[in-house]
Amino acid sequence: MTTLKTRLTVKRLHPLFVAEVTGIDLTVPVPREDLRTIWDAFNEHQILVFRDQAFDDDSQIAFSRNFGELEMMVAHPGNDWNPGHISIMTNLGKDGNMLPLDHPAMEHRLRNEAWHSDSSFKPVAALASLLAARIVPPVGGNTEFASARAAYADLPAERKAELERLTAVHRITHPDMDEDKGYDDEAKKRHTVTHPLTRVNPVNGRKALYVGAHAQEIVEMPPKEGRRMLDELTAFCTQPQYVYSHHWRDGDAVMWDNRCTLHRATPFDKTRYKRKLHRTTIAGKAPDSAFASMPEPRMASV
Ligand SMILES: [Fe+2]
Repeated sequence: MTTLKTRLTVKRLHPLFVAEVTGIDLTVPVPREDLRTIWDAFNEHQILVFRDQAFDDDSQIAFSRNFGELEMMVAHPGNDWNPGHISIMTNLGKDGNMLPLDHPAMEHRLRNEAWHSDSSFKPVAALASLLAARIVPPVGGNTEFASARAAYADLPAERKAELERLTAVHRITHPDMDEDKGYDDEAKKRHTVTHPLTRVNPVNGRKALYVGAHAQEIVEMPPKEGRRMLDELTAFCTQPQYVYSHHWRDGDAVMWDNRCTLHRATPFDKTRYKRKLHRTTIAGKAPDSAFASMPEPRMASV
C-alpha cells in the first residue's frame, strides 16, 4: 500500500504579511525540517494560517511547545479565575450553551475587541499565540490582524528615531472598562510593566511599533499626551492597508507574532451562533526590555 505524502506549502495571503500553511498535520510530532520551515515563515510573514488541523488541547500544547515555554494565563472571570495553559475564547458556558451577554465572562471577553498584543503587560512579553478553532460561527467573529512592522516601515526616518527613544507603560487592565471587575489587585500590580515603544525581531532585525490597548502611558511624556500619542500610533498601525481579517473555517489554527502584530476579535451575533477557539501563548525568553535573545525553536518533535 502506498501512502499519499503531502508537502508543506507556504502561500502569502496579503500583500504585506500573513501566509497560509497547508500540507502538514500539526497534531502529531512535526519533522524537524518542517518546524524550521514554519519558524522561518513565522518570522517572515508574522501571521501563519494553518488549515485542516484537528487539534485537541494536548496536541495544541505539544505543537506550541516546539517554539518555547507556554505562558500560564492570568486568573480572571473569563476563565472562572482558574487559569491554565489554554485560554478559551467563547460565548459558551461549561454546559455548551450560550451565555447571557451580561455574564461576567462575556463582559470580560469584550476586551478582546480592542486592538492589542497578547501579554504585553507581562515583564517577559509573549512571543507568539496559537488560536485554534473548535466551533466557528457562519457569519462574523473574524479575528483581525494588523502588521505593526509594515506600519513602522512606512514612518519617516526622523519619526522612527524619535519613537525608538520612548518607553510605554503596559497594564493588564483595559482603560475603558471597569478595572475592578477584571482582575485582583495583586494581578494588576504584577502586570504593570514598561517596554520600549519599538520591538525588534532578533532573527531578522525587523522593527515594529509595540502598542495596542495595554500600552497606556509613555514614560517620557505627561500621561494625557502619551496616551494620545499611543492612540494615534495604534490607529496608524491599524489602517486598512495594514490589516488582514481572518474568517474562521473549521480546522483553522492561526499563529501570530505578538512582537510585531496587533489583533482584535470582531463582533458576531452571540445570542444566535456558537463560537469557541482555544489559545496557547508562547512566552518570550529574555527580559524584553533588553530584546537580547528571543528563543529559537527547541525542535523537540522529531
Ligand atoms: Fe488576544
